[in-house]
Amino acid sequence: MITLQNQFEEYLLTHLPESKTFHPIFEKALQEMLTAGGKRFRPLLLLSVVDSTQKLLVKNALPVALGLEMLHTYSLIHDDLPAMDDASLRRGYPTLHTTYDEVTAILVGDALNTHAFNLIAHAPLSAEVRIELVKLLSNDGGIDGMIIGQAIDCYFENQKLQLEQLEFLHLHKTAKLIAASLKMGAIIAGLEAKVQDELYSFGLDIGLLFQIQDDIIDETQTSDEAGKTTNNDAAKNSFVNLLGLDGALKSANTLALKCEESLNGFDASIQSNLRHLLEKYLYRHN
Ligand code: IPE
Ligand code: IPE
Ligand code: MG
Ligand code: MG
Ligand code: MG
Repeated sequence: MITLQNQFEEYLLTHLPESKTFHPIFEKALQEMLTAGGKRFRPLLLLSVVDSTQKLLVKNALPVALGLEMLHTYSLIHDDLPAMDDASLRRGYPTLHTTYDEVTAILVGDALNTHAFNLIAHAPLSAEVRIELVKLLSNDGGIDGMIIGQAIDCYFENQKLQLEQLEFLHLHKTAKLIAASLKMGAIIAGLEAKVQDELYSFGLDIGLLFQIQDDIIDETQTSDEAGKTTNNDAAKNSFVNLLGLDGALKSANTLALKCEESLNGFDASIQSNLRHLLEKYLYRHN
């Protein structure tokens, strides 16, 4: 069976961004973190919604899914820079600034960010749909989403935030892009506005759950196990630091129950695709 993940990986490998010039390493660096792997969580959310409602459009959605993964990958490359989280391992490989240098890592990130929108602009979808996708991704991946979240995350290192501020931080840093991934799938599939909004708000909860889990991983896994630098959140307003490990586990379990309830409200086909993808977040065993 050809899974959505297989389709996505094949599309990625045949549509890698290129920069064929006399620069000796830029092209290699540009492709390295994309081919290194990762869970592909965001593109699979998008493709799952399209697949469950408009199967024939999955092919047309692939460039958008790749653009989304590029924007996310750029955010990781920048997140690992010495000025931000200063991490040396990502997706099982040395971070780009470690293998090459900071200039290369910064510019690869910049290139992936802009190329994401280039891919969406050229996708075989109607002009209206492409504009909606660009508006949503630039908003939730940008100043009203991931970027302001990252800015707050870094600015308030070693300064304890209030619980409400903590939620604002993580909603923006992580949850909005995850919510946007689901909604982008709904826009491509032409689902009615009400379902788009329901998927978006479900995505915000899933996104928060995802970040709580990520904070738990930082505390409980070795870098080898996680494939990225862990035990790196000491100065951060992470859920584990503010709630304790037990508190973080508890709030993940509570949120997982809420997500399961919301999921039950969607059409059967959306439910089964998403349940499959979200299994390990929804049915927690700790
Ligand atoms: C890590 O994202 C950054 C967060 C928002 C928590 P992922 O956990 O999705 O990283 P990859 O894509 O699998 O490498
Ligand atoms: C990063 O959050 C979120 C991004 C927007 C990239 P983290 O800093 O917790 O992600 P990891 O743990 O390094 O993957
Ligand atoms: Mg970070
Ligand atoms: Mg980090
Ligand atoms: Mg983390």
